[in-house]
Amino acid sequence: PLRARLAADGELEIGGVRATDLARRFGTPLHVLDEADVRERCRAFRAAFPGGEVAYASKAMSCTGLLRWVREEGLSLDASSAGELAVARRSGFPADRILLHGNGKTGEDLRAAFSYAVGTIVVDSAAEISRLAVQAASGLRGPQAVLLRVVPGIDGGTHAALTTGTEDQQFGFSLASGAAAEAAHRILGQHRLRLAGVHCHIGSQIADLGRYVRALDRVMDFLVRLRATDGVVLDRLDLGGGFAVPYRAGDPGLEPADVGAAVQAALTTLCARHRYPTPRLTIEPGRAIVARAGVTLYRVVGVKRAASGRVFVTVDGGMSDNPRPSLYQARYTVRLAGRTTTANNRPVTIVGRHCEAGDVLVPDASLPADLRLGEVLAVACTGAYHHAMASNYNLVRRSPVVAVRGGRARLLVRRETEDDLLARDVG
Ligand code: LLP
Repeated sequence: PLRARLAADGELEIGGVRATDLARRFGTPLHVLDEADVRERCRAFRAAFPGGEVAYASKAMSCTGLLRWVREEGLSLDASSAGELAVARRSGFPADRILLHGNGKTGEDLRAAFSYAVGTIVVDSAAEISRLAVQAASGLRGPQAVLLRVVPGIDGGTHAALTTGTEDQQFGFSLASGAAAEAAHRILGQHRLRLAGVHCHIGSQIADLGRYVRALDRVMDFLVRLRATDGVVLDRLDLGGGFAVPYRAGDPGLEPADVGAAVQAALTTLCARHRYPTPRLTIEPGRAIVARAGVTLYRVVGVKRAASGRVFVTVDGGMSDNPRPSLYQARYTVRLAGRTTTANNRPVTIVGRHCEAGDVLVPDASLPADLRLGEVLAVACTGAYHHAMASNYNLVRRSPVVAVRGGRARLLVRRETEDDLLARDVG
């Protein structure tokens, strides 16, 4: 688990480094990543899927330093763009351990995938099948391995914006409508493509293992039907990611061992029932690998009591480094980094510096009444989809990422500069 703890004097330490020292040395807002925590979660997933493939979904957080840890831990990689492939390449990720995803792969994405020779491409639309066949034919290598992304018709029971397994959304080929079977026939008819298996991803922040098991059931039915109609037996089954992470104490979450046990038991039963050779499982956790390893540090830049009586604490970041509260109503915990007080606390609303009333980071925080400007606040569980979704809104400079481990801190991504901000403005 995250190596965050309170030192004897009440100061917050992450990976053995004082949070206030990190804020002084690297400035704020600052994304901090606990390397040992990331590595432990990589190992836990690998141990939970012996013989399977664990592909880290790098959309959650991608930079060379992090991908190097993931590579060293023996994981594969789920990349979703030419940009993510470029970082993977720089980190030395072996191409045969990479899967390329996307419902809207551009020519640039596909060219990058072929020039890097990524092992697997996950097909998401009919038009993509022909484009892939043309790309594959222009190379000298053997057939390109592809997975077919199917829609199992399972609701992940999560936020609507994160639901991707139902019939009325933009990803994959429907099993129920026959679109998936038709796409499979087409791929099987392309000699430059090799249909290696199927993929589904029912959504994100899913806390109910039963939904994965039901999706698996539908996908196995499809494989069995495909064996009957086309005489093919596929040997890979990718169940996607989406394993829930508790952002706050008491939130539901899924542990790697529980996911592994439930999914593998279900697969074994289904394969025995259908007398189908057990396909190799792939899973694609993003958030479950990095979310909890991340802490974001801010400094207080304002304290104000509104006429309503509500106390607003303004920090030097906000929706530009964490858009999740406004996009998904995500909730976080926050604490003072430099001291521990509970006496004299009062309810406050932590807001960002952006010019929108919706830029609320934590609506229900509790902080001491003598909070001073410049004090450092720490928001927990910000390792996934924070740095990755950061923007320059209000032309703020994007925040750096620092790795901590065993009492040492190392810069992984530097803070943007004003020159960075102006560099693309060529008018
Ligand atoms: N595989 C596929 C095909 C995906 O689309 C995703 C996430 C994952 C794996 C990894 O899901 P995870 O294990 O990280 O939940 N921006 C949102 C999350 C969007 C997830 C998109 N796809 C958020 O901040 O909650």
